[in-house]
Amino acid sequence: MPPNVEARVTRDYRATTNPQDRIYSSEELIAAAAGHEAIFCCSSEKFSADVIKRLPESVAIVATLSVGFEHIDVDAARERGLVVTNTPEVLTDATADVTMLCLLGAARRGAEGDRLVRAGGWVGWHTTMMLGTHVSGKRLGIYGMGRIGRAVAQRARGFDMEIHYHNRSRLSAELEHGGVYHARVEDLLAVSEFLSINAPSTAQTLKFLNAERIARLPDGAVVVNTARGNMVDDEALIAALRSGKLAAAGLDVFDGEPNLNPQYRELDNTFLLPHLGSATVETRDAMGFCCLDNLDAYFAGQACPNALT
Ligand code: DGY
Repeated sequence: MPPNVEARVTRDYRATTNPQDRIYSSEELIAAAAGHEAIFCCSSEKFSADVIKRLPESVAIVATLSVGFEHIDVDAARERGLVVTNTPEVLTDATADVTMLCLLGAARRGAEGDRLVRAGGWVGWHTTMMLGTHVSGKRLGIYGMGRIGRAVAQRARGFDMEIHYHNRSRLSAELEHGGVYHARVEDLLAVSEFLSINAPSTAQTLKFLNAERIARLPDGAVVVNTARGNMVDDEALIAALRSGKLAAAGLDVFDGEPNLNPQYRELDNTFLLPHLGSATVETRDAMGFCCLDNLDAYFAGQACPNALT
């Protein structure tokens, strides 16, 4: 946990910490929970239905330091009467910033340029060197127009991008800010010169970006994913990046991370980050404090502000 968060945990609770910052296996998680009422975890720890069933009786609440909660079987938790809380809102800006970093990094070949300079391969400025994809004036399709999607749209408007989006329901005019709503995903894809995935990972969005959907994108499109890796069919995306169907991809999240598909590393037209969406000191503190606010509320007998169950 960030030092400020850990200080508050150890001040207010009799906490057993994980000083090596090791990701616990299911067995270790269950063993470590013995004698505890609360678990303060992050999205790397998996709470399957089986793990939830086998948690010690004493455990009454799981507070995850993440907005995403696909690592927790929320239905199984509800069935067991386990409270689960997450951290919405506080990471919106940081994640939207990293989305723009991925978008620009992919379009303007940021990582490739950095590698060239470091390797001493830069022989001098010339007119056709490392040309990328122009961003201003292009259409950005946002798949998932929740808080983060809207914050991405706000930033992209500053780059003169034209906003298009798909969401389960259309936003109010005030939230839409002139963005064009597409009720059908296929219609969004057809216009998305840039596509940013900002929807939650659910059974319905699993492998959302597959070969068939990639084929609907304009040739030379750029794909950005800062949501969850399992929403992309890696083989299909890699094939499209190899064939030139897509110009580039900016990815902060990966299916099975940190063990991403190794082919991503071989491609020059990928801009890859190790799940840094919410990784600022300010945001991680805010996420940790949000978890602690939920735990404090629970133990004071009050409703948890961010209860999922
Ligand atoms: C989140 O909050 O969901 C981040 O992606 C970290 O897991």
